[in-house]
Amino acid sequence: FHSMTPFDAIGGEKLEQLVDTFYSHVSRHPDLSPIFPSDLTETARKQKQFLTQYLGGPSLYTEEHGHPMLRARHMPFDITPKRAAAWLSCMQRAMDEVGLNGELRTFIFERLTLTAHHMVNTPDEAG
Ligand code: HEM
Repeated sequence: FHSMTPFDAIGGEKLEQLVDTFYSHVSRHPDLSPIFPSDLTETARKQKQFLTQYLGGPSLYTEEHGHPMLRARHMPFDITPKRAAAWLSCMQRAMDEVGLNGELRTFIFERLTLTAHHMVNTPDEAG
């Protein structure tokens, strides 16, 4: 995928499938579901916008919501190391299920891992 953006390489349709599959796991994960809304429609819509721009596609998130300031937007929630690991495990399962493999998967997952760790704002014992 070196001559195109990661967004072009994954494609808008597969990115949407990935996000929907991811939140179906989040909604059933015991460490994550308590801090998410029960209706994840709007959360998934924003995450599709965010990941589109994060992967080099059009700036859909910023156009509607302004600067992402992701860490600040996560401050209302206790993001523990355990929850970061759970978030990433839901993403890995979603990647398995939509068939996102190879170096594109590795590249995207490594970036998400760094971002997830950056979101941590609470030690495990307090979450
Ligand atoms: C919103 C949890 C990591 C991107 C949220 C919300 C929660 C949450 C509870 C609010 C949902 C809502 O009210 O609709 C977590 C946890 C993480 C994590 C536990 C574990 C580390 C990430 C990562 C990214 C991300 C790695 C991006 C790659 C977003 C976006 C929103 C969001 C774009 C929507 C912000 C908005 O309201 O505009 N997250 N998150 N999150 N998260 Fe995360």
